[in-house]
Amino acid sequence: MIDSGVEWPLTEQNSSEFTLLESVDSTNRWLMDRAEVQPYDLVLSMDQGEGRGRLDRQWVNSPGEGLAFSFILPPHENQDLEGGSLNRLPLLVGASVVRAIHGLGIKEAMIKWPNDILVSEKKLGGILCEARQDGFVVVGVGINVRFSGQLPASNAVSLSDFLEYPEEGLDALVADSLNAIESASKAPVSEQIEFITSFLGTLGKFVKIIKDRGKILEGVASEIGQDGALVLKVQSGQKKIIYFGDVIHLRQLGRTES
Ligand code: BTN
Repeated sequence: MIDSGVEWPLTEQNSSEFTLLESVDSTNRWLMDRAEVQPYDLVLSMDQGEGRGRLDRQWVNSPGEGLAFSFILPPHENQDLEGGSLNRLPLLVGASVVRAIHGLGIKEAMIKWPNDILVSEKKLGGILCEARQDGFVVVGVGINVRFSGQLPASNAVSLSDFLEYPEEGLDALVADSLNAIESASKAPVSEQIEFITSFLGTLGKFVKIIKDRGKILEGVASEIGQDGALVLKVQSGQKKIIYFGDVIHLRQLGRTES
């Protein structure tokens, strides 16, 4: 049994029904399978054995070394398909979590489109949003807290690379993220885009995008659309709208480049 010693009073106060699990297969799966949910029900574990990532990938942490939490957002987040909010949502959650991470003193944290949390180009965390049959959205967040053994991926980084006692900040991290997403999701779309943009490290970078079937595009990530799509300016000057793909940040553009 894992006893991380962490207590969660702020998280409990800021969620509807708070469930702390000693271990779980996947916090997202747990909320996806629950018969009835309400907004801001939250489930959290420091021992998640079968974490799920985007594109059917795995999200792996050793017991006690990763923070995994998932919560419910109201159906309207999912139904505004014309405005593309389900594409925008991982970015909005990303901005909220990154702001909370800045609050712990890690000011270099940023989002990499579409769902990664990076510090100094290394992966600290990730976000997975899934829609339930009843329209509610399950939002899952995974954060590397520390690594005692092998890294789960070669480019992984954990909170303990920046904080001496990362466990002390976890309750505030979750509660601040929840507060931020609650107010951001009620804001007008233009404000949401501004909020996302201020934490999106992808913008202004020369990037490589690996699409399905290995197709590769390169260009400057110039903006995000209202639907959360990435706008890529390619060499011909044409703009390509990207909805899916893995992004590699190649380099930051100088002030005179565009
Ligand atoms: C990614 O990087 O592709 C997203 C990773 C998301 C992992 C989190 S951990 C909490 C929640 N439960 C899961 O099974 N996945 C998400």
